[in-house]
Amino acid sequence: MGTRILGIESSCDETAAAVVADGCEILSSVVASQIDVHRKYGGVVPELASREHLRRIVPTVREAMELAGIPFSELDAVAVTQGPGLIGALLVGVTYGKVLASSLGKPLIAVNHLEGHVHAVFLQAHQEGKNPQLPAVCLIVSGGHTVLYGVHSEPVVPIRHAYDRAPSDRLHYTRIGQTRDDAAGEAYDKVAKLLALGYPGGPVLEQLAAYGNARAVKFTPPVTRGNPLDFSFSGIKTAVLRHVRAHPEMAGEIAAREESLKRGERKAEQLRPLCSVATLDLIASFQQCVVEDLVNRTLQASEEHAARSVLVSGGVAANSALRKEFEARAYDAGLDAFFPSRTLSTDNAAMIAAAAYPLWAVGAFAGTDLNAEAVMPLA
Ligand code: KG4
Ligand code: ZN
Repeated sequence: MGTRILGIESSCDETAAAVVADGCEILSSVVASQIDVHRKYGGVVPELASREHLRRIVPTVREAMELAGIPFSELDAVAVTQGPGLIGALLVGVTYGKVLASSLGKPLIAVNHLEGHVHAVFLQAHQEGKNPQLPAVCLIVSGGHTVLYGVHSEPVVPIRHAYDRAPSDRLHYTRIGQTRDDAAGEAYDKVAKLLALGYPGGPVLEQLAAYGNARAVKFTPPVTRGNPLDFSFSGIKTAVLRHVRAHPEMAGEIAAREESLKRGERKAEQLRPLCSVATLDLIASFQQCVVEDLVNRTLQASEEHAARSVLVSGGVAANSALRKEFEARAYDAGLDAFFPSRTLSTDNAAMIAAAAYPLWAVGAFAGTDLNAEAVMPLA
C-alpha cells in the first residue's frame, strides 16, 4: 500500500493539493490557479490571494482525495507549505493543514516551498526511471525566487561520492548564489507589462521570442561583484525600458496591444500581429540574455562544486529555450540536466508531498504551534 501523504500548497497564487505515495508516485495533483483574479492588476495582490485560497482550499483538497481514490482515513500524514511566501496566503494552508491533521489524528509535516521545488525534479526523474546523481547543483527560478543550491546526500560531504538517492533519503543544501534584486520570472513579468503583453509574462514572451532575432539587441550581461554566482535581473529589465523610451515609434503598437488585452485577446498568436519586427527582436534578445545568464552561472557553480547533475525547477524552468540551452551546455560539460515536467515546474502540491516523505521517514512532525513563515531560507 505504501505511505500516502496529502500535500497542501498555498504560498502564492495557486491553491494546490496532491496525494503522493512513497514520495514518488503521484496519485493525484490538483492546482487551482488564481491567474484570472490577479491578471487585471498585472501581478499577485496578496489580500486577494488569501481570499481566493480560503474559497478554494476545501474543494481543491476534496478533489485531490477523490482523484487519488482513497478516504482521508487511509492517509499517513498531511504535509503543508510553511514558507517562504505571502504570509496571508501561507496562513490559509497552514491553518487548514493543522486542523485537518489533528481532526484525522494524523501527523502534520511542515515543508519548505523551495525544498518542494527541488523534489519536483526528483519526482519527474523517478517517473522517467532516472535518478539524478548527487552532489548536484539546483537552480530554482520562478516569479519569487532565483537561487542556486548545492544538493548533497550528507550534511557534510567529506568525499564527493556518486550517490543514488532513495525517495526516503533526506537532502541537504548549501546556498551558492541568489538574486540581489528581481527574480528571473519577475523580470519576464515586468518586461511583458511594459510592452503590454499581459500577465504572467513568461509564457507569452517565450512564444513571441521564437519569431525574433536574439542577437539583434545587445544587452550587457549582469555583473555581481562579491559573489559572481549571485544573480541580478533589474539591469536587463531597465535596459528594455530604456530601449523602448529610445524608440518612441513603439508607442503606437503598445497602445494597440493594450486595447487587445482589454478585449481579452491575450494569446501569443493574437498579440503577434500587433508586434513589429523590432519588438519581436527585443523580446528574443531579452530572453537570450536571461537564459544565457542563468545557464552560465549554474554551470560555473556546477564546476566549482564538482556537481554530477544539474537540476532546474520553478516556473521559469517551463521555458523551452532555457531547457534547450541547459541540455546542450550541460551535455558539453559532461553533466546530466534534469527538469520537472511543465506542470511540476510551476507551483503544485505533489512536490510538497514528495518533500515531506523523507521527513515522515524520520518522524520529523510539526506540532499544533506550527506557524507560517514569510521568510524561510532553505540554507
Ligand atoms: O513557480 P511559479 O509558478 O510561482 C512562483 O513561485 O513564482 O512561477 C511563476 C513565474 C512567473 O513569473 C512566470 O512569468 C514565469 O514563472 N514563467 C515563465 C514561463 N512560464 C512561467 N517564464 C519564462 N518562460 C515560461 N515559459
Ligand atoms: Zn514556487
